[in-house]
Amino acid sequence: MRVVKIRVLMDFLAIILMAHLWGNINCQMFPGYEIKVNGTVHVQRGLCVRVPCTFSVPSDVRLTRYTSVSWSKFIQGSVQLVASRVNSKYSSNGRFYLIGDVTGGDCSFIIEGAMDTDAGLYSFRIEDKEIKLTYPDVLPNVRVTEFTEKPTISSARLVEGKEVTLTCTSPGRCQKVTPEISWSGKVSDRRLMNYNLTHEDGSRSFHSNITFTPGKSDNGSPLYCTVTLQTEESTTEKQTLNVEYSPSLAITIEDKETNETTVTVKNGDTITMRCYADSNPKASITWYKEDTVVTQDRSFQTISLTLTNVTPSDAGRFLCSAENEHGVARRTVHIIYHNPSDSIMDKSSTNIILLAALGPLCLLLLALLVYAYWRKRKKKLMNAETEDPYTSLRRSDITSVYDVLQPMTPTETNIIGSPEEASHDYENVQKQPK
Ligand SMILES: *[C@@H]1O[C@H](CO)[C@@H](O)[C@H](O)[C@H]1NC(C)=O
Ligand SMILES: *[C@@H]1O[C@H](CO)[C@@H](O)[C@H](O)[C@H]1NC(C)=O
Repeated sequence: MRVVKIRVLMDFLAIILMAHLWGNINCQMFPGYEIKVNGTVHVQRGLCVRVPCTFSVPSDVRLTRYTSVSWSKFIQGSVQLVASRVNSKYSSNGRFYLIGDVTGGDCSFIIEGAMDTDAGLYSFRIEDKEIKLTYPDVLPNVRVTEFTEKPTISSARLVEGKEVTLTCTSPGRCQKVTPEISWSGKVSDRRLMNYNLTHEDGSRSFHSNITFTPGKSDNGSPLYCTVTLQTEESTTEKQTLNVEYSPSLAITIEDKETNETTVTVKNGDTITMRCYADSNPKASITWYKEDTVVTQDRSFQTISLTLTNVTPSDAGRFLCSAENEHGVARRTVHIIYHNPSDSIMDKSSTNIILLAALGPLCLLLLALLVYAYWRKRKKKLMNAETEDPYTSLRRSDITSVYDVLQPMTPTETNIIGSPEEASHDYENVQKQPK
């Protein structure tokens, strides 16, 4: 606090006027009587102001508990009492309060919920058995200004799905009046908690906590804190929510959004695949082919990959991956190479399938033919046996073949012998050329 001495003519006239009204000026130039208080006090309409003030009396004057003090305001040539302490009892006009220990020389005051009519010059007066004095040194000039102060909203990191508490603090500090604090905005499931903190000087600050769990959709939406004072003045502060979330991806192929995971290309094609990441903060996006980085970006939320003049080697698994500190998103696109001229190969492969199906059929047919032949032979043989048992010696063509290959004269045993012998003979036949 500093001492401000206003000695303008108007003030002086005011003192004379006030002294005249209150009478009993008994200290010429008042040696030893001094007051220290701001010369000008600014307060915003509806808000509160605390004005420190000390006064002194000459050392031979003792302040007793009977000492009464008062603050008065000049209004259109008259003086109006606004606050006093008389017989240890404090009184106030409801907005102007004495707050200090008067007997200790403290003339501090507060103005709460200031109104335009509170503007003006104020004077401090002391009365005791022997003294009756209005301090002439300083007449604080109270100015009531527009209510322009804003509440403050604390900043906190908002992450999707993580509960957070933001605090709105009302402007100004007041002792007696309590402003109302409210929130608006589209955040859902919020819990509110209004509270005030009392400071060392006895003033209180007012706060409101809003607790909510931000979602991705809350990003960029406004949150408002409104403070309404007793004078119905109100003020609002806005905070645009910056909600952080992990990436999600969208892929476009030739500028069309797609959910396909496979894309067929043919020789000479040109194809552009774009990968968009929706994330906050920005994600680092990468296109991989198999496990190799093809292209990467950290500053844009989109990245494109163009395959020009496609050849079979362009086919493969392409992966777009976007990552920020909150997570990773991945999407895979399989590029399948298909050449129209390959359709010949396609036909031959159909033939293979056809063949594969026909194979068993042919075998069956063959088996049937063999069976039919065998039946026929058997029937013929049986007929032969019934006709003439001795003709059996010539009953097989195969035997005849053996006859040709084998110089050994066929005996009956050779011809109609056991299979073992037959196979033995066959081996001999095979070995024969050696
Ligand atoms: C007292 O005066 C000083 C400077 O003149 C100013 O900065 C301060 O805000 C004033 N105090 C009050 C309570 O108005
Ligand atoms: C309000 O929120 C702040 C910030 O999270 C916290 O420090 C404070 O304890 C909360 N106060 C109350 C009364 O809940």
